[in-house]
Amino acid sequence: MQLFRVVLFQYRKYKKAIKNKRIQNLQQSTLKKYFQKGQIPWSDGYQLYKEKSIVESINSTDILQRFNHDETLESFGYRLDERIVEYPWIFKNLQNKSAKLLDAGSTFNYEFILDHPLIKEKELIIFTYAPESRSYNEKKISYVYGDLRELPFKDQYFEVIVSQSTIEHIDMNNSIYGYQNDDDRKSDLKSYKYLLAIKEMIRVLKPSGTLLLTFPFGKFENHDFFQQLDREMLQRLLNEFHLKGSYVTNFFRYLPSGWYSCDESDCNEIVSFNPHTNKGKGDDGAAHCRSICCIKFTKNL
Ligand SMILES: C[S@@+](CC[C@H](N)C(=O)[O-])C[C@H]1O[C@@H](n2cnc3c(N)ncnc32)[C@H](O)[C@@H]1O
Repeated sequence: MQLFRVVLFQYRKYKKAIKNKRIQNLQQSTLKKYFQKGQIPWSDGYQLYKEKSIVESINSTDILQRFNHDETLESFGYRLDERIVEYPWIFKNLQNKSAKLLDAGSTFNYEFILDHPLIKEKELIIFTYAPESRSYNEKKISYVYGDLRELPFKDQYFEVIVSQSTIEHIDMNNSIYGYQNDDDRKSDLKSYKYLLAIKEMIRVLKPSGTLLLTFPFGKFENHDFFQQLDREMLQRLLNEFHLKGSYVTNFFRYLPSGWYSCDESDCNEIVSFNPHTNKGKGDDGAAHCRSICCIKFTKNL
């Protein structure tokens, strides 16, 4: 009986190794074709390369170093969308200690993020409007569903809040995320409802807690499923932060050779590419947004 178990164990191990090797070979050939064809955004191999690049960046001290406030980022993340800048910027700003962490918008709901040591040591709550196809309950994460404009948490509950490219979807058409909210408007004009979510995030943040916020920033645009915030919308948001704490802003823009640090004024006329409608497509290889704003807010004691 014992021998049978040992043989069965070895056989399963062998089968798993064969399967992993097959997946590895397939991935290598997909990536090879992706590079041969010129790294076209959203083509075969794009998601795989993007994920590999994000994993590499959030695990590399050298790359994270490039996201220090006084460093200048140049030619980074060629032909990749803004996540290649947002994740390392966020990880650079996450501290190495246990804390209650709110992911406001569910951009951490990926195995390659959840397994990172900086996340594993934290008590993570993933909050979004509706359940997604993946969930990792075995990893002891809490999933909470609801509206960011009315968070179901008590005041001063979280030490850290991360909200990555989410506020621009508030009050917009979220059917690509599998739901429709009757409250959401149908107008082409600016919506300021994101400010309600910002107020809520500040409310549930502990004194001296940190909120890491990112969003597309440039010329105001309505892309139906998201709006791009402009200077005036940013100013309103900063007014909220100004009342309750201090903040540091970073801006990044996409140029044909990749992502660069820049000033706020460099972004004012920049438009996004919407891969769902092709609006804003250019020959610069931009995969989605061409400029983003990242804000680190620290709440007053
Ligand atoms: C950037 S997407 C994240 C989705 C996906 N997991 C990802 O990583 O790209 C933003 C998320 O914000 C959610 N969202 C939009 N408006 C919301 C609202 N008012 N309250 C809560 N979540 C909202 C959408 O459902 C969507 O899941």
